[in-house]
Amino acid sequence: MSTSGVPLPRAGGLFVTATDTGVGKTFIACSVARIWRARGLKVAPRKPVESGCALREGQRFPEDAALLAAAAGLPPERLPEVNRYRLAEPLAPDLAARLEGRPLHLAELVAASARPADAWRITEGAGGLYSPLCEDGLNADLAEALGDPVLLVAEDRLGTLSGCLLALEALDRRGLQVVAVVLNRRRPDAHPAMDNRAELARRSGLPVLGLPEGAPALVVDQMLSASSSSIVSPPEPGSTG
Ligand SMILES: Nc1ncnc2c1ncn2[C@@H]1O[C@H](COP(=O)(O)OP(=O)(O)O)[C@@H](O)[C@H]1O
Ligand SMILES: [Mg+2]
Repeated sequence: MSTSGVPLPRAGGLFVTATDTGVGKTFIACSVARIWRARGLKVAPRKPVESGCALREGQRFPEDAALLAAAAGLPPERLPEVNRYRLAEPLAPDLAARLEGRPLHLAELVAASARPADAWRITEGAGGLYSPLCEDGLNADLAEALGDPVLLVAEDRLGTLSGCLLALEALDRRGLQVVAVVLNRRRPDAHPAMDNRAELARRSGLPVLGLPEGAPALVVDQMLSASSSSIVSPPEPGSTG
């Protein structure tokens, strides 16, 4: 594993966001959680609000939070600390919550994302960076409130560069540190001449990791842990650079 000789801070975290919904935030966040866990870190996954929770044994079941909990090695009974708000409708959480007559506010999501002082937090919002999360906040507002550095996930396809550069500009304007961009590829779509990874790395100056099409979780774990020490050992929250 690549640590580049940099000692890990005692605790820290990453906020995983994306250019859009359904591009692989949970998939990548689970990989990061597994890598941290394998390094003996105490991992605190957080998915403070999840919408589209279907009933399982009569209870709303948060699929993403359950995947994150399993990746972090947490038993099912600890699911409530990963996910506090479970909404039924498969809509943006602000709307899903309003439909239930129980509007959500940013302070509640920040509280639901709290971590133990010695834990490494990996937080997944819902949707893309500027998707609404609650009455008074977007995903970007939760990221800003938590202060953890950001990992941006996007789907590697035609059109990705615009979405990534827009998101990176928004993150920069908010003073949020970006550790890396992961370009996830779930289906074949590539013109042989297209190289989003190289193009985005050149235009952003950030580490950009391109995953092979349909890479299984084990391969993703190996690539993430080998490719960028800023993902496996992100800077401490609030630090600059
Ligand atoms: N590299 C990949 N290969 C195969 N399936 C993937 C890959 N990345 C994501 N998926 C699948 O695509 C779907 C959406 O990914 P997910 O991580 O849930 O996205 P998000 O959290 O951004 O909504 C899930 O079913 C997930 O398992
Ligand atoms: Mg998800």
